[in-house]
Amino acid sequence: MTAAAGGEGLPHLPVLYQQIIPAIQPKRGCKYVDGTVGAGGHAWGILKESSPDGLLLGLDVDPTALELAKARLAEFGTRAMLVHASHITLRQQLDAVGWAKVDGIVLDLGASSMQFDSPERGFSFLHEGPLDMRFNPSAPLTAADIVNTWDERSLADVIYQYGEERLSRKVARAIIQARPFSTTLQLAEVVADAVGNQPGSKLHPATRTFQALRIAVNQELDAIHKTLPQAVEALSPGGRLAVITFHSLEDRIVKQIFRDFSREKRDETHPMAPVIRPAIIRLVQRKPFLPMEEEIQKNPRARSAKMRVIEKI
Ligand SMILES: C[S@@+](CC[C@H](N)C(=O)[O-])C[C@H]1O[C@@H](n2cnc3c(N)ncnc32)[C@H](O)[C@@H]1O
Repeated sequence: MTAAAGGEGLPHLPVLYQQIIPAIQPKRGCKYVDGTVGAGGHAWGILKESSPDGLLLGLDVDPTALELAKARLAEFGTRAMLVHASHITLRQQLDAVGWAKVDGIVLDLGASSMQFDSPERGFSFLHEGPLDMRFNPSAPLTAADIVNTWDERSLADVIYQYGEERLSRKVARAIIQARPFSTTLQLAEVVADAVGNQPGSKLHPATRTFQALRIAVNQELDAIHKTLPQAVEALSPGGRLAVITFHSLEDRIVKQIFRDFSREKRDETHPMAPVIRPAIIRLVQRKPFLPMEEEIQKNPRARSAKMRVIEKI
């Protein structure tokens, strides 16, 4: 793989590129889906390796990302099809292009560097911007809606569950007292005051609360639960699915769903516990794939990435 394949010069460096392309094993004449196409880094590698006639369907909920992907993948012409859609509609999107089964699927979850680095999208606690955080700018719920209208208990729950913030109640109380909020820095300051400086922590004190709000706004965990079974169903025998996550909440869900599908399912209500569904996938590697030190040096955002890969039986 060439250096250019790693995406140098792109607004978003594709994470775990050196691992994901060999994991998917792209082949000519085959069909692939990138459910989070972003700036098209992973999609580019899949199309390149499946030349001259492999096909790729790329989905993203962010029209700005699709524009970048379109430019990045232009060299492949009609082999790349890009659609503004959520991966939770995977089966519907496959039906729309007439694909019953596919040979490989990649999901690179979470936000892209373009989204984090655009203050007007409202993802960053370091830059002033509107409290938005939507991947899809036409989705109905923004971060401002949550912090300005949810009750204290619901706010605390979301900050605890999705941000794993121990001081969630304190943060929720501070938010209720200081609202309404309209900008990221206004919120970051109030959260930072409530959390204080945690000795030994390298994280900005608002990191966990911002993560929680982003997950809630985009219903990210629900999307994983809805998409993975569709992805497993859509694979041809021998087809592979690779999922990259960036925090433990996501990885736990992926690991659990993959474990369930990799074991036979038994009817535990029956004394003989008969098998009601055989194992339908195999874990390509029991432990997740992790970035190499060299990648983390080049792209610090890769440091928390984990990739799990399965193969359809
Ligand atoms: C980490 S980036 C992907 C980067 C991409 N792999 C690349 O190489 O450039 C994640 C992308 O997923 C998109 N996304 C998030 N949730 C989505 C969903 N439910 N359906 C489709 N795309 C989604 C985001 O808008 C973002 O562009």
